[in-house]
Amino acid sequence: RLATVPTAPPDAILGLTEAFNADKNPNKMNLSVGVYKDASGKTPILNCVKEAERRLVDDESTKGYLGIDGLPSYREQIRALVFGDQLPADRIAVLQTPGGTGALRVAANFLVTQLSPIRIWMSSPTWANHPAVFSAAGLPTETYRYLGSDRTSFDLDAMLEDLNEKTSPGDAILLHACCHNPTGIDPTADQWKEIAKTVSERRLLPLIDFAYQGFGDGLDEDAAGLHTILSTVDEAIVCTSASKNFGLYSERVGAVSLVAGDSAAMKASQSQLKAIVRANYSNPPRHGGAIVAAVLEDAELTAQWKVELEEMRQRITRLRNQFVETMKSTGKGHDFSFLLPQRGMFSFSGLTRMQVDQLKNEFGIYIVGSGRINVAGMNEEKMQSLCDAVAKVLES
Ligand code: LMR
Repeated sequence: RLATVPTAPPDAILGLTEAFNADKNPNKMNLSVGVYKDASGKTPILNCVKEAERRLVDDESTKGYLGIDGLPSYREQIRALVFGDQLPADRIAVLQTPGGTGALRVAANFLVTQLSPIRIWMSSPTWANHPAVFSAAGLPTETYRYLGSDRTSFDLDAMLEDLNEKTSPGDAILLHACCHNPTGIDPTADQWKEIAKTVSERRLLPLIDFAYQGFGDGLDEDAAGLHTILSTVDEAIVCTSASKNFGLYSERVGAVSLVAGDSAAMKASQSQLKAIVRANYSNPPRHGGAIVAAVLEDAELTAQWKVELEEMRQRITRLRNQFVETMKSTGKGHDFSFLLPQRGMFSFSGLTRMQVDQLKNEFGIYIVGSGRINVAGMNEEKMQSLCDAVAKVLES
């Protein structure tokens, strides 16, 4: 029977890393998956994380199961980090999940099992895994326009037109709280207000993917759009991740937070979320959540984390600027200054699928097929050869 199983296509993002690893080109560069690299090309373990782990080794007394919803101290810290004191705690259910993807999948299962018929509206473009996660849960997906026809700016009017004309009351809408993936183009504060107004008027349920808190303009600044949305609606779901801002990629630590109109509604939804988790992975792994809690419960480690996060953020900004400058200096009039206002790990280069393929095949430079470049994986020393290669494919 297994002989009839067809081969699945490689993953649009992680499949590229598999191909990269197999590539023999000594000058290869992996700018596909959203992973931060330091100047030496390594994805570092943050010092605050190392210290928290040392303490955990000393203090941890059991490997017994966590509750279905995860570590209470982690859940409490995430609630404070994401929501501040904007909402009463008894309206928010936070469940620790295996990464941000796990959070999205639990949320999608919840929408399907509790709120069907429901569709989810996603920006075009969006993270390649969003439609896959939602479809795997049986959640119908639709798209709203996001990127302007110039492919370098956000088209608010088109987005609002689609939301006003195509959505039905009760539909869910996926929003990226900051550092839009894959474009790096975020709404301004005023634009967030307009989006929030439309979301509320159309009675849409926001599902907010907040995977990059701290990588845009700062921890609080990056939560501002989310808070604007929450000021106009009673109900929302927020999916967060510690993969990027704590560098805990392989520990798989994230959270799904459900905001309900009151405490009773929150408790009922929380019970359903727990039932979904129990039937899926039973309960989350402890280690990553314990690290985050240990950092955020300790004033000194928290201060250290903020410095380290700020360093990552500033390095990405420097690399983005250097890329734009170096492209200019290739002397062929390649003006990439439209990348400068972009935020987060990614920049949407405007390169076509063919140019992306050429970069990979001729130069061993891997970026995502949409033209998304992981700026956080760039390197000062290799900037010139990267830009020479990009200039080459633009000219051919
Ligand atoms: C990305 O978009 O590259 C990251 O979110 C990592 C992933 O799982 O795709």
